[in-house]
Parts: sequence; structure tokens; C-alpha cells
Amino acid sequence: MKKKKALITGITGQDGSYLAEFLLKKNYTVHGIKRKSSSYNTDRIDQIYENKKFKSRFFLHYGDLVDFGSISEIIKEIKPDEIYNLAAQSHVGVSFKLPNYTTQVNAIGTLNILDSIKKLKLEKKTKFYQASTSELFGEIQEKKQSENTKFYPKSPYASSKLFAYWITKNYRESYNMFASNGILFNHESPRRGETFVTRKITIGISKIINGIDDCLYLGNIYALRDWGHAKDYVEMCWKVLQCNKSDDFIIATEKQYSVKFFIEKCFQYLGIKIVWVGKGLKERALIKKFDKQKYPKLKDRMVVVKIDKKYFRPNEVDNLIGNSTKAKKILNWKPKTTIYKLISEMMDNDLKLFNKKR
Ligand code: NAP
Ligand code: GDD
Repeated sequence: MKKKKALITGITGQDGSYLAEFLLKKNYTVHGIKRKSSSYNTDRIDQIYENKKFKSRFFLHYGDLVDFGSISEIIKEIKPDEIYNLAAQSHVGVSFKLPNYTTQVNAIGTLNILDSIKKLKLEKKTKFYQASTSELFGEIQEKKQSENTKFYPKSPYASSKLFAYWITKNYRESYNMFASNGILFNHESPRRGETFVTRKITIGISKIINGIDDCLYLGNIYALRDWGHAKDYVEMCWKVLQCNKSDDFIIATEKQYSVKFFIEKCFQYLGIKIVWVGKGLKERALIKKFDKQKYPKLKDRMVVVKIDKKYFRPNEVDNLIGNSTKAKKILNWKPKTTIYKLISEMMDNDLKLFNKKR
């Protein structure tokens, strides 16, 4: 059977790196688009180059989603069977500071790919996956959000992704393209970007334990999220494109926890007990109980978490939890990783990282 060719935008990101590995294991030839950067930006995919089995089927191309010419040229050259559009300015908080740029990349960037497929007359050959998001639900209109829940985006990021969601559907319906949205809820991993809250917490705690930092500063610790593992979720991106027909799917664990819970469980995983005192901007976490021999850098009643208002967003998304009944049925979706397993994996990774850096 002919090897399938996949093109991944955002290959240097968390999901891109896991998806590349997944597809290479499935015997695909994988092409990725990476941006020009003044410093090294391929950390997450370096191990693919080092893997003899994958090396000859893995290619990187310079490109940028906002540059129609570069995107179109790459698609013309490769003629991929599948395109996974994972590239984005993906930070919700940053999108308030960079609304125009976020829109260019996330909205117009998506259109650039779809329009390239159409202009190159690849509609019958190339399937398109769009990395949609639970942020579309923003101010939630239903307790658990499904494919039928009304959208209410609350940030430039979410609004840009709403355009991308609809333009994907428009091209599907107008030009009979295989173009699908995976509406994924939050997913994390040891490869998660360092400014997203879960990774910020696991890195922050690891630095405190190793005496590199003494306190972690956060924003809204009462936000509720449905957190899964990125490795499980990229398999679903692939499954979305293996369906008989193009469609949109919610991928979620259907379990919800607060940021505060995530912090407590990270400390608990290390055998450290914390207590919360104060309210609002004065709320903080103190060390209550720990093994002094194991953690010589910690002190009794040391303040390890504080609230800093700079991490609050102009418009907060307080509460997200998905209903993935459709994906369970059609994609045979079952989340594999519990929040506890996710925490242990992330904590182990970051403890090792900062133990070395000490
Ligand atoms: P990520 O780690 O932030 O990766 C984003 C990727 O996009 C990086 O490779 C980045 O390149 C690339 N990129 C940014 N701007 C670009 C541009 N103008 N042209 C080309 N590439 C560009 O994000 P992620 O967590 O893997 O998420 C993947 C996708 O899923 C994103 O679209 C995100 O919005 C969406 N999503 C994520 C989640 C989640 O919880 N992780 C949930 C729902 C949806 P650099 O490495 O050079 O920065
Ligand atoms: N990043 C960050 N930093 N978030 C914080 C902090 C902090 O210091 N303190 C509290 N939070 C809260 C945020 O306000 C938000 O409510 C929650 O923690 C999660 O924040 P992020 O981890 O930044 O993720 P997100 O939910 O805003 O966005 C992520 O998930 C979306 C899917 O719902 C990103 O990956 C998006 O790209 C993705 O679409």
C-alpha cells in the first residue's frame, strides 16, 4: 500500500510533536512547517531526527501561516493526503495583548490553507483537520458542552478560532472538501508550553523544591477545566480524518477540576501538605507538612503560592467541561489518562529537569 503523506502545521508545538510521532509509527511520511526563529525551536521534535526508523520519512519546511505564498508552495510540492492545522497563537491571555496578530495567524492562517487546497484543486485528495477548541464555548450556554452547544467566545483567541471553525465548515459544504473540526478541551503533557497553567505549576513547584525559586505566582485559581493528555488527544485528531465523512467532534475527558485542585494534587504527589489562607488577591498557600530530609530547601510555613493580578485576563473563562458522547460512539474515544497520572508524569519530568539545572 502507498505510504500516506501528512502535513502538520505547528509541528514544533506540544500537539504537533506528539502527532508527528504517532503518524510516523503508523508508517506515514510526515512533513512539518516550522517558523524561522532567532533561537532553537525544535526541542520537541529533535528525538524524531535521532530515530533511525523515522529519519527518512520526516521533513521540515520553513513557512508561516500568515504567508499565503509559503503555505501554498509547500502544499503544492507535497500534495499531502492529510493536513493537520495545529499552528496557532495558542495562548488565550496573550491574545488580549496581540489581538490582531492572533487573528491573522489563527483565522486568516486557516483560510490560507483551505484556499490553497481549493486553488491547487486538491479538494478530492487532501483531507483537512482544524484544531478547534473548547474556548469557543467561553461563557457556557450548557452545563456540559457538546457539538450542539451554542458558542460564546470570550477572547480574541476564541473569536479567531470561531472564524477558523466556520470557514472549515464553509469550505466543506461549499466545495465538498473533507474538512473537519476537532473541538478539543484542554490537554497537557510534559511537553506543554511553559506559560500554560498546568506546566507553569509543575515547573514552579519543581523550582521551589530545588531551591531555584521560592514562590509561584498565579491568577484565577478557581477556573475549572477538563484536562486530558495531549498524547491521547492527537490519536483522536487522526481518527477524525479516518471517518467515512467529514464532521466535527468534541474531545474531552468529561471530568472537571480547578486550578487550585491541580496545585494541591501536585504537592500531594510529592508528599507535601499545603494549606490555603487569605481571600481574593491575598489568598496564598503555605507549606504545612513535609519530609525535611527529602526536601532540604523547604521551610515550615513557607509561602509557596501567591495570587498576582497580572495573570488575570480581561474576560475570564471560568468553567469548561465537555460532553464527548459523539466521539465515544463514532471514534471509539475513551480518555486513557487520569488527572493523577497526568500530574505524576508532568511532575516527574520537571523535577528531573530542575534537579539537573540546580
Ligand atoms: P502550542 O504548543 O502553542 O504550538 C503552537 C504551534 O504553532 C507551534 O509549533 C508554533 O511555532 C506554531 N505557530 C505559531 N504561529 C505560527 C505561524 N504564524 N506560522 C506557523 N506556525 C506557527 O499549541 P498546542 O498546545 O500544541 O496546540 C495545538 C493547536 O491546538 C493550537 O492550534 C491550539 O490553539 C489548539 N488547541 C490546543 C488545546 C490545548 O489544550 N493544548 C486545546 C484546544 C485547541 P513555534 O514553536 O515557532 O512557536
Ligand atoms: N496561563 C495561565 N497562567 N493561566 C492561569 C494562571 C497563570 O498564571 N493562573 C490561573 N490561570 C487560569 C487561566 O485564567 C485559565 O482560566 C486556566 O488557568 C487555564 O489557563 P491556560 O492553561 O492558559 O489554558 P486556557 O484554558 O486559557 O487555554 C488552553 O486551552 C484551550 C482549550 O480550552 C490553550 O491551550 C488554548 O490554546 C486552548 O484552546
